[in-house]
Amino acid sequence: MDLLKGGSYSVFLERVKMTSVASDMYEMVMQFPDLLTKLKMDQDTKETCIRLGNNGLGGVVTLGMGGSAIAGLYVQALFLDSSPIPIIANREYILPKYVDSNWCAIAVSYSGNTEETLTACNEAIKRNCRLFTVGSGGKLSQKSESLNKIKIPGGYQPRAAFPLLFSAVLNLVECLLGTEPTDLAEISETLSKRLAQWENSRLAPRTVAQDLAGKIPVFIGSRDLVPVAYRAKCQINENAKGMAFFSQIPEANHNEIESFVDKNRSNIKPIFLRSSYEDARIKKRIDITTSLYEEEGFSPVRLSIESSSKIEEMLALTYYLDLVSVELAHIRGVDPLSVERISRLKGELG
Ligand code: F6R
Repeated sequence: MDLLKGGSYSVFLERVKMTSVASDMYEMVMQFPDLLTKLKMDQDTKETCIRLGNNGLGGVVTLGMGGSAIAGLYVQALFLDSSPIPIIANREYILPKYVDSNWCAIAVSYSGNTEETLTACNEAIKRNCRLFTVGSGGKLSQKSESLNKIKIPGGYQPRAAFPLLFSAVLNLVECLLGTEPTDLAEISETLSKRLAQWENSRLAPRTVAQDLAGKIPVFIGSRDLVPVAYRAKCQINENAKGMAFFSQIPEANHNEIESFVDKNRSNIKPIFLRSSYEDARIKKRIDITTSLYEEEGFSPVRLSIESSSKIEEMLALTYYLDLVSVELAHIRGVDPLSVERISRLKGELG
């Protein structure tokens, strides 16, 4: 097959028996572990990726917005200290100048119709990047330049389709880099078991959501957990229609820390996402930061989930915080599924 032009138009990920699409956001989030295992990369896609990788890639750029950008952000964080080539998540109409024909672009849009993603994708095509597309349909699925069009089942909200989008992007990037594929089935099983443990713990999603009601959470992560903190903020925004922020250590130690003072305390709730993979300096920074916030009268929550790999930790925390966001929506009496303002804005932009 001609790698530059793209040739094959079949469905490139074999779909394993699909769970029926849920009708509400809670059900969709409950499918999280299951959805992680629903897409399998087929032989043709694998061979295409291996060939591209062997030919020497300049880098990999994911293109996507909102819920469809998260997979790229997770993969960017996961490979930050191991990939010999840049892996970057682009959330813009434009592409960095250094993205050229040696790069591979993975355009992700659940609807397939997101303006910024389509514009960046057209630019990637213009620059002769190797292109993969991931989505459930729309204009993106009609790009003939795509080497492999990865078809995601429709009917979900894009943010709820994250496990599907993530597994597709991870499979592609691991294959392009020639690294050992992650066993998502094993992680999926672990996550299903975790649910029962969480429900019976002091930090049951509903309990944490109750604690967040009327507060503005600031999710604080480090390294791999920075995109997890960002995802949590977006889920509170979109599902619970609540204000939320995210930040990252060490950077927040050089600015934001000055704002965590008694007089700003009223309804700010710092939530530290703690990782088992923190190195000594990061651990010490987060411990000191937590104490400083406590001294100023804040009541930080520390969240950590024991896991056997960084990727499992990221996904477990994401699943847990997705549940918290839906519980919070119920407490606030809002529909976690609706995205009226996002749709209105897209409509007005035409
Ligand atoms: C909606 C959501 C949004 C969309 C974004 C881009 O559930 O999460 O953030 O993901 O507006 O749209 P898509 O994903 O269709 O490219």
